[in-house]
Amino acid sequence: MNAPASRMPLSRMSRLALGCWPLAGMTRDGVDRDDAIATVNAALDAGITHLDTAYCYGEAGESETAIREAIKNRPRESIFLASKCGIHWEPGRQQAVDGAPARLQAEVNESLHRLGVDSLDLLYLHAPDPKTPIEASAEALLTLLESGKTRAVGCSNVSLEELQRFSAVCPTAACQMPYNMLQRELETSFLPWCREHAIGMVVYWPLMKGLLAGSMGRDRQFPTSDSRHKYPMFQGEEFQRNLDFVDALRPIAARLESTVPALVLAWTMERPGISSVLFGATTPAQVAANVPALDCRLDDEARTAIDEAHRLRGPVAGRRAVKT
Ligand SMILES: NC(=O)c1ccc[n+]([C@@H]2O[C@H](COP(=O)([O-])OP(=O)(O)OC[C@H]3O[C@@H](n4cnc5c(N)ncnc54)[C@H](OP(=O)(O)O)[C@@H]3O)[C@@H](O)[C@H]2O)c1
Repeated sequence: MNAPASRMPLSRMSRLALGCWPLAGMTRDGVDRDDAIATVNAALDAGITHLDTAYCYGEAGESETAIREAIKNRPRESIFLASKCGIHWEPGRQQAVDGAPARLQAEVNESLHRLGVDSLDLLYLHAPDPKTPIEASAEALLTLLESGKTRAVGCSNVSLEELQRFSAVCPTAACQMPYNMLQRELETSFLPWCREHAIGMVVYWPLMKGLLAGSMGRDRQFPTSDSRHKYPMFQGEEFQRNLDFVDALRPIAARLESTVPALVLAWTMERPGISSVLFGATTPAQVAANVPALDCRLDDEARTAIDEAHRLRGPVAGRRAVKT
């Protein structure tokens, strides 16, 4: 299991990465193709070479086609390109999970075409399909690895037991899961197991879908066209308590001569066992605000203050971010 060759390509993966879901207008409306291309270019120009996308980022693959435009004149080896298969859109903006081998292979072929490349650096199973044994999906990704369509394989949104079954079939370089200052469920069993088995942990939602970036007003309303309206973390008392937590971060960031988004991302990057942190962005200005995370150095006083703010906040409401 997990032959070293399958992990080698991850050494090219930048620890701070651009997550390309919001670029396709999936978090909120109003992000056009020019914004998307400019945002990818801003990340690459700032040295963020790891781009994370998926077959279903955009109903017609808008994320992958914007990436194609941004990378077309750059050396392929200068970019670490990760995509995912196994979720697609049905008519009526309904997401569907399908991990059947033929479907996965067809999606990957289409992703490569949209991205304008011959192979990916990392291909994830986006989510386990309850109708397909995870071993069958893993076998399909193993075939794609062996055919050279990807240099490494990972899986996402799995339980620990599903990860164990997946990695018993296909060498697994990375696992992609949600993690941030307020949603830390990974820490109990998932992260230790991945560290023990040398599986990289790539985390999403480090900014809690923008809430931890520090610029949301207390009276912010999310229209139904903004996918955040349905999450408890953005509603009522829960939203206000999350913003109290953000307010507790401000003096910590100021003492370190940093900013809230840089502090949040730097804290996430330095957590033991985290290989790469995927932040979403919709503009070059957001990329510019987040990249200083690479230079933000936390000290013990800052870590203790963050833990205390987390303790005072208590558990966040809603569905657990990580399946048990
Ligand atoms: N494997 C999976 O199932 C899965 C699931 C979710 C995400 N992901 C990956 O992980 C990436 C990160 O997740 P995410 O994009 O959902 O959440 P996120 O990184 O926690 O938050 C991204 C949002 O934060 C806001 N933002 C970013 N920088 C900001 C700044 N400096 N100031 C103010 N606001 C800022 C933007 O909001 P606005 O849109 O309002 O500008 C952006 O859409 C995704 O893009 C995707 O690649 C994977």
